[in-house]
Amino acid sequence: MNDILPDESGLWAFFEDTIRTWLAAYGYRNLRTPIVEQTDLFVRSIGEVTDIVEKEMYTFVDHLNGENLTLRPEGTASCVRAVIEHNLLYAGPQRLYYSGPMFRHERPQKGRYRQFHQVGVEALGFAGPDIDAELIVMCARLWRLLGISDVRLEISTLGSTESRSVYRARLISYLEKFCDDLDEDARRRLKTNPLRILDSKNPAMREILAGAPRLFDDLDEDSLAHFEALQRILRNQDISFEINNRLVRGLDYYNRTVFEWVTDKLGAQGTICAGGRYDGLIAQIGGKPAPACGFAMGIERILALMGENGAVGAHAIPDIYVVHQGEAAAEFSWKVAESLRDDGLKVVLHSGGGNFKAQMKKADASGARFAAIIGEDEVVAGQISIKPLREAAEQIRVDLAGAAALLGNI
Ligand code: HAM
Repeated sequence: MNDILPDESGLWAFFEDTIRTWLAAYGYRNLRTPIVEQTDLFVRSIGEVTDIVEKEMYTFVDHLNGENLTLRPEGTASCVRAVIEHNLLYAGPQRLYYSGPMFRHERPQKGRYRQFHQVGVEALGFAGPDIDAELIVMCARLWRLLGISDVRLEISTLGSTESRSVYRARLISYLEKFCDDLDEDARRRLKTNPLRILDSKNPAMREILAGAPRLFDDLDEDSLAHFEALQRILRNQDISFEINNRLVRGLDYYNRTVFEWVTDKLGAQGTICAGGRYDGLIAQIGGKPAPACGFAMGIERILALMGENGAVGAHAIPDIYVVHQGEAAAEFSWKVAESLRDDGLKVVLHSGGGNFKAQMKKADASGARFAAIIGEDEVVAGQISIKPLREAAEQIRVDLAGAAALLGNI
């Protein structure tokens, strides 16, 4: 779990500003849910036999009332819970987004943290492939807005729940032939969640999997048509993609379209954004059946990628740093600072005493373009002396009223 320090938070603020306008441009509205939910919600939606639920959730019993709670490991479950609870789909399909911290007890490494941040985008109540395409096209626009180019899109389809269970049975009977050679993980998952075995990183497993039947061959016609329509829109929108038949997501709620945006620039944790369709989830957790599709991106990974490209966030640099000496000047400097702020300037008022020389050093280090100097003379005249700090220009004395306008012209 990381602290985000002031030197880094400029880039976070740039990212957050960018996504707000980007999401508004596509008509997505913000939803804010608590970071804690009933544990059962995540178990039922993400799936009992997944890494997240088996070993990564921060789960605890609230000793005040005995409730079993979990810090959210992702946002889709919470979003669907809120949509059901507040009957939002009654008003029609919803385009929603959320952002904030998520928690997974993973082994920390570059790009993988126990508290990390996501922006998640969910379109609920839409069945067509146009929405899958919209979600992908909007990601592509975001990468452009953020100056990210080293990222590729992988897509696949998992078919319908029915076609998946046909495939599941075929995969089990194939893997059973290798029962003695399966590693512990694969053996454990064989009966509970065999599709997850496809994701194994173990070279011995990969060898066995090379000959495994493909989910693609068991796809139902409707899912295939959906997938083809999605590809057509992506091509029309000039979005390049690769079809990755082995793309298995780490959460169980997906059907049909799944996709990931991946970069090679961040080492092992190269997926910056991932999602897909989850048409069964709303009904599964108690809502009126409705299709849905969405994705989430890892903010740390995106900022790391922007950092690789040389992006640095602008810090909140003040326009003017006010130095003052003496009691009367200190009092007047308050008036000066507040008045300049009234005019829309970013002002740091020196605090902590010291002579003018020491204060001017602080003014310089602040990055401000100007120092406002207030001594006894200025107090008597009701004026301020302005010294440009970044260019070779003369110090000038001005009236307080209108000083801000004048600064714009120096
Ligand atoms: P996910 O693939 O588990 O999907 O996470 C989405 C993204 O969050 C990942 O691609 C990655 O960028 C980031 N991420 C995940 N775990 C970590 C971590 N430990 N440290 C840093 N970044 C991480 C979901 O969470 C789904 N809810 C996405 C979704 C929304 N599907 C449909 N709607």
